[in-house]
Amino acid sequence: MCGIVGYIGDGQAVPIILESLKMLEYRGYDSAGVTIFNGSLETYKIAGRIKNLEDIIPENVNGSTGIGHTRWATHGKPETRNAHPHISSNVSVVHNGIIENYMQLKERLTGLGYEFKSDTDTEVIAHLLHFNMNCNGKKYLLDGLTETIKELEGSYAIAALCAEEPGILAFARKDSPLVIGIGNGSNYAASDVTAFLKHTKEVIYINDNEIGLLKPDSIDIFDLDGNSISRDTETIEWTLEAAEKAGYEHFMLKEIHEQPTSIQNTFAGKLSELEGTVTLDELYLERDEIKRLKRVTIIACGTSWNAGILGKYLFEKLAGLHTDVETASEFRYSNPVLCGEELTIAITQSGETADTLAAVRSSSSYGCRSIAITNVVGSTITRESDSVLYTRSGPEIGVAATKTFTAQLVALYMLAIHLGRIRGVVSANEAKDLIVGMKRLPGQIQKILNKKEMIKECAAQFADKRDCFFIGRYLNYPVALEGALKLKEISYIHAEGYAAGELKHGPLALITDETPVVAIATRGHTYEKILSNIKEVKARNATVIAVADDDDTEIDKYVDIVLRVPSSHELLAPVLSSVVLQLLSYYTALAKDCSIDKPRNLAKSVTVE
Ligand code: AGP
Repeated sequence: MCGIVGYIGDGQAVPIILESLKMLEYRGYDSAGVTIFNGSLETYKIAGRIKNLEDIIPENVNGSTGIGHTRWATHGKPETRNAHPHISSNVSVVHNGIIENYMQLKERLTGLGYEFKSDTDTEVIAHLLHFNMNCNGKKYLLDGLTETIKELEGSYAIAALCAEEPGILAFARKDSPLVIGIGNGSNYAASDVTAFLKHTKEVIYINDNEIGLLKPDSIDIFDLDGNSISRDTETIEWTLEAAEKAGYEHFMLKEIHEQPTSIQNTFAGKLSELEGTVTLDELYLERDEIKRLKRVTIIACGTSWNAGILGKYLFEKLAGLHTDVETASEFRYSNPVLCGEELTIAITQSGETADTLAAVRSSSSYGCRSIAITNVVGSTITRESDSVLYTRSGPEIGVAATKTFTAQLVALYMLAIHLGRIRGVVSANEAKDLIVGMKRLPGQIQKILNKKEMIKECAAQFADKRDCFFIGRYLNYPVALEGALKLKEISYIHAEGYAAGELKHGPLALITDETPVVAIATRGHTYEKILSNIKEVKARNATVIAVADDDDTEIDKYVDIVLRVPSSHELLAPVLSSVVLQLLSYYTALAKDCSIDKPRNLAKSVTVE
């Protein structure tokens, strides 16, 4: 959802900023731009990818201070004139977020004689900053920016330069991520750490309503009243190699292959097979509190929401807890009936999804305790929640979530077993079976990856289709939802994920010989039911592809193609089936020559409402 970067130091700013923007391109790729201090402020921007930007920056642009932006359009089409940075005479601004009162500000600034060149909300920040610095007596960048952000409503991470103050880069944040990288004689600002991982792992996460200045050898942070804030430095664990493609054609394929490790890392040190327990020391929930819990509310968006549906089934079965799964964007504007005794679980790989953050704040306002399941250390959700359960997947760059989804499922298994054991709902023996099964997952995923050619061949069934269905029951229902989301997201084929029993209540009307149906049919207590649903769609001439256990020969009688997964515990099979469906989507998108890592209109981290 837009990436911003800033650099100030002793190196050449252009290559450093372009490199950083490429690392952030997954956040948005509609247009890109930079401003470099080269005696004066020089700005270059263009519609399209960073590659286009590289082509228009002359070789003789020297300068060791600059800001850059890669855009995911919200206000204004993805055209060059809407690309950032936005300029107002002697100031230049890049911004990630949405300025909600920009129309009022635009009217006022137009009345003051400012001429708007773009349709963006960001341009008001540039003009307002210019006004505050040049006409309002706030002649220094820090004062001007402080004054400016006091007038902004909405969300922002901002980096700004002023031609009259070389050697200074100003930044500010509210409700959009911003992290400072501390180098040796150089400092960095960015929407996330991958932008400067190559240069430093020492970082400071900027909080809401903080503003500051970067110089090559100093970082100053202030509150809105101008009081200096002292902040601790944190060290990032992620490596640069983890944020690169390592020989794979796409990040998505690399990330699918990283799932054995991602899962292993997520449960490492937490599972006791002997005792049938899961140790989650990171949870600030007393045993008595866990016993008293009445209800769980899961809040999430997109793929994380699909994981949440599986979580609901797990918490109900293993922990005896009534569980609601809420779409964050709806929850925040609904009238939730909460008494404060419910446990909120926020699932968000990025930890920055604006709707999820707002929904968690809303549930916290009722006094509910919260647990965040996230992949990003230091992300905003980690500061908004009482406890954090990390997935240990490493950076996920492909816009389509893959390894973080299966790691979220593992986190949910662990949480459900942990709560269920304390509440006395799941027995030690049942927990042991699950733990043994969880430990086998990495190896079982590897077996699926070793046979991916078959899934690649199967993808040919979809490449020329307009619509398709994914169906499943019980735990396989969220797998169907996620399979459909993956396919539509990267291959642009219209795909519906459906609870298989619901087909006859409407969607069956859409089934023809041109509508392939993927049925998730691993063994379990709804197996016979899904077989009936498969027969229903076969009777309407659909081609049916089943995901089934490797020793299931019964299924061959009813379907056209079987994609096999190693047999596993019924509750754990969704992890394995999901890997198959990720590969199916990947190879379909590959056959269609789609932009797999950066799908049309999407961005990895949705930090605006
Ligand atoms: C996943 O493939 C999607 N790109 C998207 O649905 C994503 O899961 C959603 O935006 C939520 O993101 P989060 O997990 O970072 O909150």
